[in-house]
Amino acid sequence: MSFKELVFSGVQPTGNLHLGNYLGAIVKFVDLQKTHDCIYCVVDLHAITVWQDPAELTKATREVTAAFIASGIDPKKHIVFNQSQVSGHAELAWIFNCVARLGWLNRMTQFKEKAGKDRENASLGLYAYPSLMAADILVYRATHVPVGEDQKQHLELARDIAQKFNNDFAATISSHGFGEAFFPQPEPLIQGPATRVMSLRDGSKKMSKSDPSDYSRINLTDDADSIAQKVRKAKTDPEPLPSEEEGLKARPEADNLVGIFAALADKSRADVLKDFGGAQFSSFKNALVDLSVTKLGPIGSEMKRLVQDHAYIDSVLTDGADRARVIADKTMNAVKDIVGFVRK
Ligand code: TYM
Repeated sequence: MSFKELVFSGVQPTGNLHLGNYLGAIVKFVDLQKTHDCIYCVVDLHAITVWQDPAELTKATREVTAAFIASGIDPKKHIVFNQSQVSGHAELAWIFNCVARLGWLNRMTQFKEKAGKDRENASLGLYAYPSLMAADILVYRATHVPVGEDQKQHLELARDIAQKFNNDFAATISSHGFGEAFFPQPEPLIQGPATRVMSLRDGSKKMSKSDPSDYSRINLTDDADSIAQKVRKAKTDPEPLPSEEEGLKARPEADNLVGIFAALADKSRADVLKDFGGAQFSSFKNALVDLSVTKLGPIGSEMKRLVQDHAYIDSVLTDGADRARVIADKTMNAVKDIVGFVRK
């Protein structure tokens, strides 16, 4: 069965958005608007799998929304909303909790990382998180999901859940006129030179909101001075840059900075090395500071302006939620019929 192409992705409103979120996800969100209908969600239900200060959660939700708009997402042509305003996400997640197998969830590396040694004390929500993520995508029967590399395993689980639902309910899916499959197999879009942006302090660690060192990441709201300081302090090795990509292999920090440059300049790593092969890090870092400030500066200042305007941001979210709900409700009605729930 063929499904209408639809893009869905989500970003958690927890802490500062950083360059990894921007290059791994948001830049792709912006691009896909040209070719697809897109739904972009601020996933507040996901955020509370780890305790959040309520006032901070509200603030971060508005910040992510502002980042989307400041980066070039058009909330009128596409849909931007926060997850908790559309109840279909949580409803479908429950049904998926009954489809997904414990063994599948036990394999999720992100849960292991986030729960750490104190697994017994992690929330049930943190464990079931990938099932909610599958519901986010499939409640719109979305077909394409732009994400960073770290979400790949969750996307594979979403595909397994879709397939098992289609198999488990094959008879009623067909008798209700949905053909052979009700849910599509959502395709992860993990492309380009910055699918996994690493910490500026340690090339073996992912750039992340939870790293205690702010020098490990560039935040979208960092001013030019902070960007310059962070890039200049970024860990490197003593060798000049290589002329070929091959030469980056055993040099994680160099590879990361070249990848960041390439993504910001919309070039390949090979092209960046054509320009900078043989250069010392000091001159490469100067060019990276200039490029980062030129690209991120206007986004950061527009974000700061937009977050002040609560009325505008909240109206974007409620309008987006109203439009998302129409699609989600239609899916949920069909799912209820397929599963055998009695409804109005
Ligand atoms: P989150 O909020 O952790 O991150 C948002 C997006 O940013 C990407 N990302 C990175 N990309 C490259 N390098 C990095 N260092 C880096 N850090 C983060 C993430 O891959 C993601 O695309 N579970 C998701 C949110 C979510 C979702 C969904 C995504 C909930 N439901 C449905 C897609 C579809 C998450 O926690 O992303």
